Amino acid sequence: MLSPKICLCLTGTTIEEDLKMIEKYRNWIDLVELRVDYLSKDERLAVRNFPQAAGLPCILTIRRRIDGGNFVEGEASRTTLFARALAFADQDSRKNFAYVDFEDDFNVPSLQDAALAFGTKVIRSYHDMNGPVLNLAERMQKMRITGYEIPKIASMANSLSDLTKIYKASKEVGDFDHIITVMGPFGQPSRILASQFGSYLTYTSPEGDDNKLKVIGHTDPKTLNEVYNFKLIDKNTRLYGITGFPLSITDSPKIHNKGYREHGMNAVYFPMRAENVDEVIEFADTVGVQGFSVTVPHKESILSDLQQISAEVGEVGACNTVVKRSNEWIGFNTDTIGLQKALENFLGTKRLAHKRVAIIGAGGAARAAAYIVKQMHGKACIFNRTVSKAKKIADHYGFKYAALDADATDILSNYNDLIIQTTSIGMGANVRPDSEGRWPLPAPETDPLYFYNFSGNEMIYDVIYKPEKTPLLVRAERAGCKVENGYSMLLNQAYAQFSIFTGVEYE
Ligand code: ATR
Repeated sequence: MLSPKICLCLTGTTIEEDLKMIEKYRNWIDLVELRVDYLSKDERLAVRNFPQAAGLPCILTIRRRIDGGNFVEGEASRTTLFARALAFADQDSRKNFAYVDFEDDFNVPSLQDAALAFGTKVIRSYHDMNGPVLNLAERMQKMRITGYEIPKIASMANSLSDLTKIYKASKEVGDFDHIITVMGPFGQPSRILASQFGSYLTYTSPEGDDNKLKVIGHTDPKTLNEVYNFKLIDKNTRLYGITGFPLSITDSPKIHNKGYREHGMNAVYFPMRAENVDEVIEFADTVGVQGFSVTVPHKESILSDLQQISAEVGEVGACNTVVKRSNEWIGFNTDTIGLQKALENFLGTKRLAHKRVAIIGAGGAARAAAYIVKQMHGKACIFNRTVSKAKKIADHYGFKYAALDADATDILSNYNDLIIQTTSIGMGANVRPDSEGRWPLPAPETDPLYFYNFSGNEMIYDVIYKPEKTPLLVRAERAGCKVENGYSMLLNQAYAQFSIFTGVEYE
């Protein structure tokens, strides 16, 4: 089978808008789907010349509301629109629509005959916007009335488990061109792994169209090519991924896929959203994913699915890297080495002997920080809102602990050579001076050390990297402190993961 084609869905309200979108993405797409149902009523009458203007193969689609589209004017009017768009077929097939999408229950033989007579391929489509369609083989067989149609089944995955079931069903479909698309955020892997799902094409949407990208699970064509190396994916591609929930924008695919590209490896790394971690193991076992990164909220719950764990996982009680070896799932923790490497570069030394370190927070990231500070021979005090959690970590490593509030000022002043911030406070919060150059006062919701005045000698490492500088880092830097955000930890933990997955050093 040829590599699946990349189709850009055009949902502008004018033809001009759609043509502009084609120019924007021409280098990254093989064909477009003109969604006539999105065009304004006047524009719908003028689609006959669209293929010639587009200059690449076009699918003609007029999707009804019940199938997830915008067309509400009734079947007679839809038939007329199809007829107008397919009429006056040109001898030069590039001036005609290359494909027309007729739903499974749209039966106007004269239109179908006309399309086929002029070389327009018929895509017979069936949509289920609510749940997964699992009898793919049987349904597609029925949809191929003449044998020339390309059957398409688009259905909704309400969980990663639904996607696993659809993948299994896709293996039963015969050896003819067909399209399988799985909608919703859980279906996104099917868009990237069109080759594995046996789909003739994959649908994409322009960047910035959040509804399409997030709700339908589309990826934009540039990202599909440049981040996921889509055109290189085939049946032999090794599969890796990242799981979490809701797994909002993550930089990990960029980092890992860049590594595969630079090392000339046939591999891809993609997001696998899952509410429940057992579903990820089931998906990975079924589809052949050989390793994956684990992020919030699954770093602890994944432990019960593993047959072996590394010493760091045992120590920290959290796992961010899972790999399959000899049919067993093995858990590693590269957050620890990632943080260690980041701190070594930041501090310019491998040792924290004679240094006193404040660890802010007592969650998974704080446990990794405590482990690393101990490895680097430092002394630490753990500060946390819930003191019992700070105590537990501190007792394990022989560190001090304190409540994270204004009463901690004195003890913090004693553990301030290096401050490692691990709570989520400050995430997404930007601070700026007002029009008169005055900075806002530190607030507890955005700055965990709001009560503390920096001397300028502290070094601050904040594991957050979005925003690039948390309000805490901005304030510390203004006081003269050396600061760094968690991007260096992200990169270093990913490099370590890359070598666990592939056996090859990233850099
Ligand atoms: P992670 O694995 O990223 O470290 P976590 O295990 O959920 O995440 O830990 C979150 C940390 O941020 C905890 O130290 C938490 O404090 P509590 O143990 O008291 O819950 C801290 N944290 C989160 N929101 C906070 C807030 N609004 N104020 C103070 N601490 C907060």
